[in-house]
Amino acid sequence: RSLSTLSPPVPKFDTVACVGLGLMGHGIAQVSAQANFKVVAFEQEQRFLDAGRSRIEGSLGKMLKREKISQEQYDGIMNGITYTTDFADLASSDLVVEAVIENMDLKKQLWGELNNVCKPDAIFASNTSSLSITEMADVSGRPDRFVGVHFFNPVQLMKLTEVIRTVHTHPEVFDACHSWVGDIKKVAVSCNDTPGFIVNRLLVPSLTQACLMLDRKDATIKDIDLSMQLGAGHPMGPLHLADYIGLDTIHSIIAGWVEKYPDEPAFEMPKCLKERFDNGDLGRKTGKGFYHWGAGDVRGEP
Ligand code: 3HC
Repeated sequence: RSLSTLSPPVPKFDTVACVGLGLMGHGIAQVSAQANFKVVAFEQEQRFLDAGRSRIEGSLGKMLKREKISQEQYDGIMNGITYTTDFADLASSDLVVEAVIENMDLKKQLWGELNNVCKPDAIFASNTSSLSITEMADVSGRPDRFVGVHFFNPVQLMKLTEVIRTVHTHPEVFDACHSWVGDIKKVAVSCNDTPGFIVNRLLVPSLTQACLMLDRKDATIKDIDLSMQLGAGHPMGPLHLADYIGLDTIHSIIAGWVEKYPDEPAFEMPKCLKERFDNGDLGRKTGKGFYHWGAGDVRGEP
């Protein structure tokens, strides 16, 4: 007889579904496969699925070249991932991690469809960086089996994952997800469902302050970044990091917060960020933001 207070109990995590194979999703699929989980990688369109697969091949290729993995491990990891555009292939997944674009309506619709397709004991997890986990859990058909698992870019290198609970999350579901994060060789921290969780609640206002400093012409891009690198020991300065994350992502987080929490003074849209966003200069992904970026470059030039 099961001692679980959750019925049906939390399944043993064997198969992990990754829904969305973009910047974050491909990394989540890869690190899960590296830890020997069976991975079902899903994108709605074949071209996005192919792009996700290429990203994983590129990252594993780097690791192979630097002898961090053997050819045998490379093959094992690649063979551990099934790529699909068919929702039905997600039916027997134990854990479903969603990493699609940050659009609440889209995510809500997706969770409804996933609830219909996935087995009843499957656990649902969103990698959203700033949207409400509770709002998604409410429409998922299984709010007690719903958490946030928030990864950091680049997923393959960043060691942290935030595990986020809502008021509905069953403690056994939370513990299983926390322990899975350890299984995929990340360090888990726990937090409640609040805007930005821990990291982005601290990081995004600090990136905002750097942009406001630029708006006021208090210092140059180069000097602001150099200051935080050499004076605070950050691997990248704030404007460099904003470009690296993507100015569309930062813009969307701040715009969402400004609208939802108009009285929170830490949430403010800087002019220099909005201008670049409006011009389509989104940072590394478009080649231009606060810096000029060459192909594959992680160190843009001012
Ligand atoms: N897959 C596999 N290996 C990779 C890789 C990838 N995707 N990217 C780089 N590598 C390897 C490189 O080949 C290199 O290998 P080597 O040591 O054998 O030569 C090694 O990893 C280090 O790469 P680099 O020398 O290019 O990188 P750096 O040492 O300069 O570090 C960095 C790059 C990890 C990005 C570092 O600059 C950093 O930590 N920056 C800050 C990143 C950060 O703060 N991320 C969080 C953003 S916030 C977020 O994501 C939340 C969201 O919700 C907004």
